Amino acid sequence: MDYEVAGTLIDEDRLARRVAELGKAISVDYNGRELIVIGILRGAVIFMADLVRAIDDNVDVSMDFMSVSSYGDSTKSSGVVRINKDLDNSIKDKDVLIVEDIVDTGLTLSYLRRVLMERGPKSLAICSLLDKKERRIADISVDYVGFDIPDLFVVGYGLDYSERWRNLRSVHSVEPTIEA
Ligand code: PRP
Ligand code: MN
Ligand code: MG
Repeated sequence: MDYEVAGTLIDEDRLARRVAELGKAISVDYNGRELIVIGILRGAVIFMADLVRAIDDNVDVSMDFMSVSSYGDSTKSSGVVRINKDLDNSIKDKDVLIVEDIVDTGLTLSYLRRVLMERGPKSLAICSLLDKKERRIADISVDYVGFDIPDLFVVGYGLDYSERWRNLRSVHSVEPTIEA
């Protein structure tokens, strides 16, 4: 089945306004502290780039990245996740913020939280642009959420369908192409 980009779910202006609010909240919560912001490749890249620039300079921000993948779709519900690229730097005794584009089943984040907690951070919080609560399997609490969304397949602003459409400036839904 082929898919095409359908309606706009969240346009550029709403994204920008919400990212600014999240940045403000993070600036207040981490005022005067050092914060390691960890982006989960690849979906979080666009959101993270905007989010870190929305954090005031009263927070000493540094950036690191992790790349993870589940062992294929059939085993995704097992929550077994493989680390393809680990962090470059230690998070021991650091305040850490994981940045995601979307929480769906929550399995990726529950694995990541477990793995990163074992490394002894001072604190570990999670920020996700989108939260698709209907699909949740793992019990994971997200500290900063941009938007709650319904169970639609979404692309744009970092989110992909088979690696396409990450570069779209808004968040769109995707629908099957109806062939004549
Ligand atoms: C997507 C998304 C989250 C994860 C959420 O990543 O970016 O990382 O899935 O799903 P979950 O809550 O059900 O675990 P994906 O594996 O598609 O990789 P990508 O970020 O490179 O697109
Ligand atoms: Mn991802
Ligand atoms: Mg993806």
